[in-house]
Amino acid sequence: ERGGVQITREEIVRDEPTNNVPDTIFTKVGLQLHRRSQHPIGILKNAIYEYFDSSYGNKFKKFEDLCPIVSVKQNFDDVLVPDDHVSRSYNDTYYIDPQTVLRCHTSAHQAELLSSGYKQFLVTGDVYRRDSIDSTHYPVFHQMEGVRVFSPSDWESSGKDGTTYVAEDLKKCLEGLAQHLFGTVEMRWIDTYFPFTNPSFELEIFFQEKWLEVLGCGVTEQEIIRRSGNEENVAWAFGLGLERLAMVLFDIPDIRLFWSDDERFTSQFKEGQLGVKFKPFSKFPPCYKDMSFWINESFTENNLCEVIRGIAGDLVEEVCLIDNFTNKKGMTSHCYRIAYRSMERSLTDDEINDLQWKVREQVESKLKVVLR
Ligand code: PHE
Repeated sequence: ERGGVQITREEIVRDEPTNNVPDTIFTKVGLQLHRRSQHPIGILKNAIYEYFDSSYGNKFKKFEDLCPIVSVKQNFDDVLVPDDHVSRSYNDTYYIDPQTVLRCHTSAHQAELLSSGYKQFLVTGDVYRRDSIDSTHYPVFHQMEGVRVFSPSDWESSGKDGTTYVAEDLKKCLEGLAQHLFGTVEMRWIDTYFPFTNPSFELEIFFQEKWLEVLGCGVTEQEIIRRSGNEENVAWAFGLGLERLAMVLFDIPDIRLFWSDDERFTSQFKEGQLGVKFKPFSKFPPCYKDMSFWINESFTENNLCEVIRGIAGDLVEEVCLIDNFTNKKGMTSHCYRIAYRSMERSLTDDEINDLQWKVREQVESKLKVVLR
């Protein structure tokens, strides 16, 4: 019985696979870190706004309060994601019911805004993805989407075709943005694939001795433009991950910190101050626990990580496959190393052992694997 309503076992079993959003994720809906002007995500958003406002005379319309609960149609169909694309799977995306998801990208809003007639816009919001656990991945993060629509009169006098003209404009715009944020940096363009753009590119910048992917973009698929009723137009679109950029710009070592209420974190950032370097407040020691089990057909690392996060929350820093073998009978064993670490305090042995026991129990009961 739940809330006075009798539910039969069959109904629970039938309902279970259609909603894979745990409470730990659902409680993040509405927090909107991107709208906090003293938070690194909000500071970065405002710095990007500044670039677009000054380069385009405030012509970009800004959306930052669109509901993250969207239809499968908005999130996938409208942006031409193929029926068999992995991103549609329950392993990668949070489904509220078979027709409704937590958006996995801000591209979910492209088609409707284009159909409403907007020609230049930025959409900022929280997005949700099932994933494994490490210092740069968290199941909720923030993206900004940018779209600009051109009409034939924009490119006709250039002697170029629409697609070439728009792709060049896109690259110029985003190189300018990268320079606005990072100063003089080395950049490179990588050809890639997105279902909703063609051609598609990724921008990488050379930062602290590494090439870092900062955004995806391209010339919007003409089918999307056609459906929006602007057949003769050509558009570009980009999507960038705000955490990824903020980690680099503010020297933030772990993505979980963005969700911290600890004053030692929050007090270090001021409105309008991009790139103030974060000073870690003493790094507390990690504690590692290994667990081995025989996997089954339905086992996935994302499911494992969700179980662990459900128990340990933000105390889990990394989950890493350290051993993987298949025996003569064809059974496959995985060994995972879990790193527990709080960014705010020292954890006690008792506390970690307690977490690890609960993890073992639930991994066994929920994932139906056999512990070794
Ligand atoms: N939606 C893409 C992602 O989340 C990014 C993107 C947006 C790429 C717009 C091209 C155009 O990875």
